[in-house]
Amino acid sequence: MDNRPIGVFDSGIGGLTVLNEIMELLPGEDVVYFGDTARIPYGTRSKETVIKYAFQCIRFLLKKDIKAIVVACNTASALTLKEAQANFQIPIIGVIEPGADAAISSTKNNKVGVIGTTGTVNSEAYQRRIRRLLPSSEVIGVSCPLFVPIVEEGWEDTDIAFLTAEKYLQELKEHNIDTLVMGCTHYPILRYTIGKVMGESVNLINPAFETAKATMVLLEEKGLKTDKIDGGKYEFYVSDDPEKFRRIGGNILRKEISTIEQVNIEQL
Ligand code: DGL
Repeated sequence: MDNRPIGVFDSGIGGLTVLNEIMELLPGEDVVYFGDTARIPYGTRSKETVIKYAFQCIRFLLKKDIKAIVVACNTASALTLKEAQANFQIPIIGVIEPGADAAISSTKNNKVGVIGTTGTVNSEAYQRRIRRLLPSSEVIGVSCPLFVPIVEEGWEDTDIAFLTAEKYLQELKEHNIDTLVMGCTHYPILRYTIGKVMGESVNLINPAFETAKATMVLLEEKGLKTDKIDGGKYEFYVSDDPEKFRRIGGNILRKEISTIEQVNIEQL
């Protein structure tokens, strides 16, 4: 049993989709959330830069006496998880393995699509894991960079979102996939639009939900679960002006985020 908080970080607000699932599944756990809002997007940056940023986020969270870290950002998970696990003495979990494993369990025709940022898709992190564990699979990755700004504008249920999704997802439809990994923090917010374009025969995998489940298993295995049943407390930190985070983040969490502290992440 361990009542210290879990640390969660992302390149910005998107990781709140992961926090949402953690709050739902592990309502007694306290969480310290860091959103690197000054340096978003991670999805267009080099591996070296994302490693530098992710390590700074981890160093910040370690100052908060946390018991484990969830890398909520798909790009950071894809590009830095191995390096992070090798460099820090704390359990660190990412979103790729839980998302990929759920896709493997879901597919019947072994044709899986993966959508994400350019960094995530080009890293092949999802594709490699799925192909390794399911060698007969065909895995097609498509980057959908416009989905992030569409969600941040609050346009997820508009014609703009639908037409953009049609354009990006056409190739996946032609491949007749039966499972699609929404491999970016923002995409679960677009799931109705994505589902409408792909049709009912395609199962959408939400790595945010799968990661919350994997976090629960990790805490249980390591004896790190809190003894509280509910009433988890949440602290929020960002690297840029908290206002945008408060506004969009509040919509994602469906509750008001009252206290958000700005920190200087560059110095860590
Ligand atoms: N959080 C990022 C991800 O899940 C999306 C936004 C960004 O590019 O930083 O990949």
